[in-house]
Amino acid sequence: MSPVALSNLVALAVSASLAAAQITGTFPATPLASKGPFAYPTGIPYKVDTDVGLIRGTQIGYNICNSTTEGQQSLCQTSFLNSLDDFCLWAPPEMGREVGDIEGSMIAWCTKPGHGTRLIPAGALHGVQFTKTPDYVQVVGFIDQTQINILAGDFGGEMDPHGADLRGNPMGGIVFTNQFGGNFIQGIEWHNFMGSNTFCFKVCDPAGPSAADYCEHIFDRIGCAYNAPNNARNGTFESCDGESQDFPGIYTSNGQQLP
Ligand SMILES: *[C@@H]1O[C@H](CO)[C@@H](O)[C@H](O)[C@H]1NC(C)=O
Ligand SMILES: *[C@@H]1O[C@H](CO)[C@@H](O)[C@H](O)[C@H]1NC(C)=O
Repeated sequence: MSPVALSNLVALAVSASLAAAQITGTFPATPLASKGPFAYPTGIPYKVDTDVGLIRGTQIGYNICNSTTEGQQSLCQTSFLNSLDDFCLWAPPEMGREVGDIEGSMIAWCTKPGHGTRLIPAGALHGVQFTKTPDYVQVVGFIDQTQINILAGDFGGEMDPHGADLRGNPMGGIVFTNQFGGNFIQGIEWHNFMGSNTFCFKVCDPAGPSAADYCEHIFDRIGCAYNAPNNARNGTFESCDGESQDFPGIYTSNGQQLP
């Protein structure tokens, strides 16, 4: 074996052992919910999650999204919730796997162009209720989920900026709204349930006193009725003002907090 070939082999062996040693942990130095707030649009980094070597891999998409990234191949992970006709939902980049297995890889699908994302195909939405309260905005509705790459029959999952490893679902996903003061600001706390041909997506006012409570992310097994009380009706598109719900996890009956 020539010295050159030998040194190539050594180099290969070194890079193989480096690759094997590359997964060095689970948690990022900075949890997703502690990054930002990013100024829109100039303060947004290309990728919000730049961690490498962690168990869940790297952020699949990017956060700077514009006319070049717009279209049905977009991997934009910057989402919006502005109004009845201007919001995005987290959904898979391709058909084939259940939401619960790929929450970290969801990308933004929006109702209209202009955000550098994929578009929710015309006719996929069957009914939407947009609600604005003093503490949050939310959309709840009905969708043919197969048109946004969610398997027929998949009861889905819940995306939020936390996740078991604090990198968020999707990893690096961020959300903006123009509903708290007029300019686009980042909603640090939010949750988005997708599945069973329904969805709910809530973004809490970061200036509000209880954003993390209204956008609580720990009740992910029990869905929209509980986490985002609403009166959405299939076939109806409507925009409402509402009162803030009880915090998810708190029941009030006749003025008494239960249990
Ligand atoms: C558009 O987005 C791409 C992908 O994130 C980015 O590389 C590019 O710099 C952006 N263009 C402008 C003009 O911001
Ligand atoms: C909503 O209504 C449409 C049209 O009638 C129907 O195809 C769809 O299954 C309904 N969605 C749900 C979740 O019930």
